[in-house]
Parts: sequence; C-alpha cells; structure tokens
Amino acid sequence: MPARLEEGDYQMKIFLDTANLVEIKEAVSWGVVDGVTTNPSLVAREEGVFHKILLEISSMVAGPISAEVLSLEAREMVQEARILASIAPQIVIKVPVTPEGLKAARELKEEGIKTNVTLIFSLNQALLAARAGGAFVSPFLGRLDDIGHDGIALVQDIVEMLRYYDLPTEVIAASIRHPYHMVEAARIGADIATVPFKVLKQMFEHPLTEQGIEAFVQDWEAGGRGC
Ligand code: G3P
Repeated sequence: MPARLEEGDYQMKIFLDTANLVEIKEAVSWGVVDGVTTNPSLVAREEGVFHKILLEISSMVAGPISAEVLSLEAREMVQEARILASIAPQIVIKVPVTPEGLKAARELKEEGIKTNVTLIFSLNQALLAARAGGAFVSPFLGRLDDIGHDGIALVQDIVEMLRYYDLPTEVIAASIRHPYHMVEAARIGADIATVPFKVLKQMFEHPLTEQGIEAFVQDWEAGGRGC
C-alpha cells in the first residue's frame, strides 16, 4: 500500500472532463463527480465567457476544477493563473510540461495556487512535474494508445514512481476514450481518472442490468401486482 495515503483513502476519484454545464449538472446529480477538468479545446466548444463558465462550474462542484493557461512564457502564465485562481478557491491551474510551465508551477505553488501539469507522455516528464511541485500530473493515455503505445502502462509507471519516492503529486489518468480505460485506470491504482460525459454514461451500461430490470417489472405485473 502506498505510504502517503491514509487508511480508507484507497479509492479512485472521478473527475469529469468537460466544460459543458448541462453535462456537469447531470453528472453531479448522480453523486459521482469529485472534480472537473477542462482544456482550451473543451472550452472552445461551449458558448459564453471562460471565466463565467468556471464560476458556474465552481458553484456546482466543490472539488478541484482545472483551468488551463494559454500563454507559453512563465511570467504570463503566472499572471493568467492568478486571475483564474481568483474565480474560486477550488480552481487548479493547468500548465504544460515545458520548462516555462514548470517554472510557473513552482512559482504558483509558492503562492499557494495548485497546478495540474498536463500533456504528460513520459515518466521523465511526470518526475520533473512532481519535483517542480505540481499537485497533479495528467498523463494522456488515449493519445498514447492512438499512436500505438501502451497508455495505461505509462500511467501505472507514474503511479508507482510517485509512490516509491513518496511524492505527494496525484496522478490523473486523462484522455480516457472508452469504459475499459476506466477499468484499467482503477486496476492500476490511479488517484483520479478524468472522464468525458459520454464515457461516464457508458460506465452504467450492462445488458444483464437492462434485462434484469425488465424481468423484475414483468414478473411483478404477471403476479397481478401492477405498478
Ligand atoms: O483534458 C485532457 C484530456 O482528457 C484530453 O483528452 O480525448 O482530447 O485526448 P483527448
């Protein structure tokens, strides 16, 4: 068992990977959303001002909400981050795993602002992000699978490395494309998996559950109980 976790903490948290308010509201009503991650591509699909969207999300979700900076230089990233972080206390700043991104992550940590170091595709990148003080790292397993690599193997290596060295950075299995990615992320002990709404809905689905519900209703009615 990883040394840095307390007993009772061994669970994979579920974040929703979307900036869509309708999806977030619906998933929150199911009681399964521990946090939200956004990125510029996801925000670009939505209507409205980014900061207002973040404010709305913050009113629905108490857990971490990742918002990404667009600047490429540390100084500008930090300025953007301060504004985003002022929207709500649970806002976490996504920075890319570049030298400038890590410079910003270190500075933001000193200011008490958490970062999620994103676009992680190697163990070395995750190690650097953790050493720079990133609160979260986001390895993109789906995009690695897309190019014929083993995405979940990387997520597992990162989880093991961080626990081996007792580093406090949490691993977000990101770029989840289908329900089996969630199964794999849970199996290898990812701290968090961030899931698109479509995949979250698919996680409910099983033909035996549908058949079972149908059979219970039919049997009840056949017994003359009605509804
Ligand atoms: O939020 C980052 C990540 O989940 C992106 O996923 O499907 O664009 O690779 P995808």
